[in-house]
Amino acid sequence: MHKYEKLWLSVGTGSLIVFLVILIITGLHNGHTPAASGREYINPDKVDQIEPFNKPGLHKVKGKNYDYELVFVASAFNYQPGNVEIPKGSTVKIIATSKDTLHGFNLPGTNVNMMLEPGHISEYVKKFDKKAEYLIICNEYCGIGHADMKSMIKVVD
Ligand code: CUA
Repeated sequence: MHKYEKLWLSVGTGSLIVFLVILIITGLHNGHTPAASGREYINPDKVDQIEPFNKPGLHKVKGKNYDYELVFVASAFNYQPGNVEIPKGSTVKIIATSKDTLHGFNLPGTNVNMMLEPGHISEYVKKFDKKAEYLIICNEYCGIGHADMKSMIKVVD
């Protein structure tokens, strides 16, 4: 075996071990444990069953200071939903979490730049007031498919 291949193999094995240890540690945060900040931890293994993450996508809301909730679930190596359309002029609360490892949630050219940690909920309120297409990219290295981890927000009339 080539020297560098061996090196990369051990780097790969090493990061797998680190990943497993993180999974085990985050797995210990079972259920809903109130955080020091008062925010809740959610069990990353049960994201699909926990509101609002059981329904990823855009949802109209009433009686709030924003028009929609936009729920994203990140996992290696994609976002749910993969594509979303927002009516122009809407104020949207983006609510996101990760099911597995640390992911990013970045809309280049905007102030939206969140870290999505398993067990945590990240939120950002933004008004989309012009017709545009925003690529969502993962800017936290999360593994082999990191560079392909994308989604898209289209602001439409
Ligand atoms: Cu997900 Cu990088």
